[in-house]
Amino acid sequence: MRSSLLRRLFPGWLLGMFTAALLAGVFGALLLSGLIFDTSASSQHSKTFAWAIHLTMIHSVRERAGRQERPDAARHASLLNGAAAYARDCVACHGGPGAARAPWVSAMLPTPPYLLDSSSRWSRAELYRLVHDGVKMSGMPAWGEIEPDQTISDIVSFVQQMPKLSPTEFARLRQQARPATPDSPTAIGAQEPSTFSSASSPS
Ligand code: HEC
Repeated sequence: MRSSLLRRLFPGWLLGMFTAALLAGVFGALLLSGLIFDTSASSQHSKTFAWAIHLTMIHSVRERAGRQERPDAARHASLLNGAAAYARDCVACHGGPGAARAPWVSAMLPTPPYLLDSSSRWSRAELYRLVHDGVKMSGMPAWGEIEPDQTISDIVSFVQQMPKLSPTEFARLRQQARPATPDSPTAIGAQEPSTFSSASSPS
């Protein structure tokens, strides 16, 4: 009698939902307590977690690239401007032809990859979204927040050309793009390629 009243008051689906909510609450509390998720960059993600967030990132970029307008489609991109912006904004983390990444990059999680094969895995629209919007919780900045759309477009053109560029050509582009002031800064933390001679440097 009592059990049938209970069952009417709390039908199976309601009990199921209650249990699910309780479990989600306990999981949330454990997560926030810092007991089950280690946020230190020195401890690797589990293989499953790394796979899941990487796949989510790929799908998120593809989804936005398909949906959002591409302001660069009609304009002419400049390889020289792209090389200059890449040397300034990207080399420290991603390196380039003949240019190593900064040493501190190996302490990042995820470690920013070299981009020599990126253009074979991402379309132009996807690369544009990646660079423009950045990647949350990875250290990849949203360059669209600080660089004009045309610069992003130039950078993407440069990234697409990069596999074909030799270290000497990259060094030449960087040198050409370099402002002619005596104390012009180079990309912070970036290692100069050995071919980057001091021909025009003022020392
Ligand atoms: C502070 C370090 C940092 C800087 C500077 C940086 N990135 Fe990244 N970038 C990352 C990290 C970390 C990832 C990996 C993100 C992931 O896999 O979740 C990444 C990923 C990427 C990817 C995707 C790589 C792939 O093939 O999966 C591209 C393309 C990229 N960055 C381009 C750029 C460009 C272009 C610039 C300069 C405008 C730049 N990044 C500057 C840290 C950086």
